[in-house]
Amino acid sequence: MNAPAAKTPVRDADLTALVLRHDRRLPRYTSYPTAPQFTADIGRQHYRSWLRSLPRGAALSLYIHIPFCHELCLYCGCHTTAVRRYSPVAAYVETLKKEIEIVARLLGEGRPVSHIHWGGGTPTILAPLHLRDISRTIARYFHIKTDAEIAIEIDPRSLTPAHVEALAAIGVNRASLGVQDLDQKVQQAIGRIQTFEQTAEAADRLRRAGIGGMNIDLMYGLPYQTVDSVARSTATALDLGPDRIAVFGYAHVPWMKRHQALLPEASLPGTVERFHQMQAASETIKAAGYDAIGLDHFAKPTDPLALALAERRLHRNFQGYTTDEAPAIVAFGASSIGRLPQGYIQNASRTVDYNAAISAGKPAIVRGVALSPDDRFRASVIEQLMCFLTVDLQSVAPEHGADVDELQAELAAIDCLADEGIVTRRGSQITVPEHARPFLRSVCAVFDRYLSREGARYSRAV
Ligand SMILES: C[S@@+](CC[C@H](N)C(=O)[O-])C[C@H]1O[C@@H](n2cnc3c(N)ncnc32)[C@H](O)[C@@H]1O
Ligand code: SF4
Repeated sequence: MNAPAAKTPVRDADLTALVLRHDRRLPRYTSYPTAPQFTADIGRQHYRSWLRSLPRGAALSLYIHIPFCHELCLYCGCHTTAVRRYSPVAAYVETLKKEIEIVARLLGEGRPVSHIHWGGGTPTILAPLHLRDISRTIARYFHIKTDAEIAIEIDPRSLTPAHVEALAAIGVNRASLGVQDLDQKVQQAIGRIQTFEQTAEAADRLRRAGIGGMNIDLMYGLPYQTVDSVARSTATALDLGPDRIAVFGYAHVPWMKRHQALLPEASLPGTVERFHQMQAASETIKAAGYDAIGLDHFAKPTDPLALALAERRLHRNFQGYTTDEAPAIVAFGASSIGRLPQGYIQNASRTVDYNAAISAGKPAIVRGVALSPDDRFRASVIEQLMCFLTVDLQSVAPEHGADVDELQAELAAIDCLADEGIVTRRGSQITVPEHARPFLRSVCAVFDRYLSREGARYSRAV
C-alpha cells in the first residue's frame, strides 16, 4: 500500500520541530558500509588478490593522500598533522613513491588511469619538485589517459607561483580551494586567517596557468557564524566564479579530533541555527544560477558534475560527489581508503605504521570490508538517494539478488518519514522532495543495516 501523500512542512514551527527530531548523528554516506564497519579481518592478502583480479582494460581512479598541513585549523576533521619542518614531508614522499611501485607491480604496470585526486591534509604543502617527482612516479607505472581528470585540494594561503607552475606541468585540471568562511571573527575563532584577496589571487594564478576547473569549499555551523554572515561569505565567495561549490556542515567530533575541543563551545550555532545557515548558503548559491547536487554540492549547469546529475551518471565516493565512473579507486598514503569491486580497504593511519609496511615491501593495508550482496544492494540504494534524491528499489534489487518484499521494516520507516513530509513513496519508488534535501542522510539511514547496532558517533545529520 502506498504511503499517504507527503505533507510539505510550510510553517516555521513545523520545520523547527522537524529539524530537532532529525538532530541525530549520522554518516555522510561517502561509502556503504561506512568506515566504522572496516575491520582487521580484511588485510593485505585480500588487497593483493583483489588488485590482481581487476579486469585488465578497466580505467582506474587514483587517490593520493598527503597528511600534512602547516598549521591545524581548529575545526579540521581531516586526517592530517601540523609540521613545522619539511623533513617528515620529504621522507613521506619517498615512502609514497615506493608504495606506488609496490601496488603497481601487483596490478601489472601500464594500467589506464582516468582520474587522479590529490587530497589531504594539504597536498600543496609538497615542494613543487616533490609534486613533479610523485607525478613522474605515477606516470612511470600507470598510463594516464589524455582526458584524465586530475584534481587537487589547495590551501590558498600557502600557494606560491612555483606551486601553480608545477600543478600545470603535472596536468592538474581541477583545483579545490579551501575557503570555509570570510568573516574575521569566525576566522579568528577557527584559527584560520585567510583574506579574500589571498583566495582571489590563488584562483587567478591557477586560471592563468590554464587550470580551468575550480571548486570552493565553504562551511556552516562554525563558531560565531550567523545566517547573515554565512550568506555574506557565500555571496563574496561566488564573486570568484567557481564552477562548483561545496557547503559542508561543521562536524564537531572532539572525542575523535581533540583540537576541536579548543573551539569555544558556547559560540557554536545550535541545530536550528545550523539548518538556517545551510539554507541561506544554498539559496544564495542557487540564486546565482548554480544547480544543487546531492547533499552539499552545487555546480554551474554546464559543469560536468551538473551534466552527470542530469544524465544519471553522478557518483559519490570518499572525495564527495564525482563524475568518476572507474570501477576501482586505488589509494596511496597513510590512512587512505581504496575501493575495489570486492570491497573497501584502508591503509595504516599512523605514518610510522604506514612507513614500516612500505619499507618492508608490503602494502600498508590494515583494515577493510568485503561487500556482501546485501551490502551492494543497500550501497546502490543509498548512493542513488544521495545523488539523485530518488530510487526505485524494485529496479535496483534484481541485479543484487535482493527481494523488496523483505524490506518491510525499511518501508515502514520510510512511510513514517513520508508522514513527516521528508519522502514520498509510490510502491517501491522513494523520492526525497526538494524541500527535504537537508534530511537526505536520515532517509539513507533507513537502509543502513549496521547503524543501530554500532556505537560509532557520527556528525550531526543536519
Ligand atoms: C582537506 S581540506 C581542504 C584543503 C586544504 N587543506 C584547506 O583546508 O584549504 C577539505 C575540506 O574539508 C572540509 N572540512 C574540514 N574539516 C571539516 C569538519 N570538521 N567538518 C566539515 N567539513 C570539514 C573543509 O571545507 C576543507 O576545505
Ligand atoms: S582544513 Fe585543510 S589546512 Fe586546515 S587543518 Fe584541515 S586539512 Fe589542514
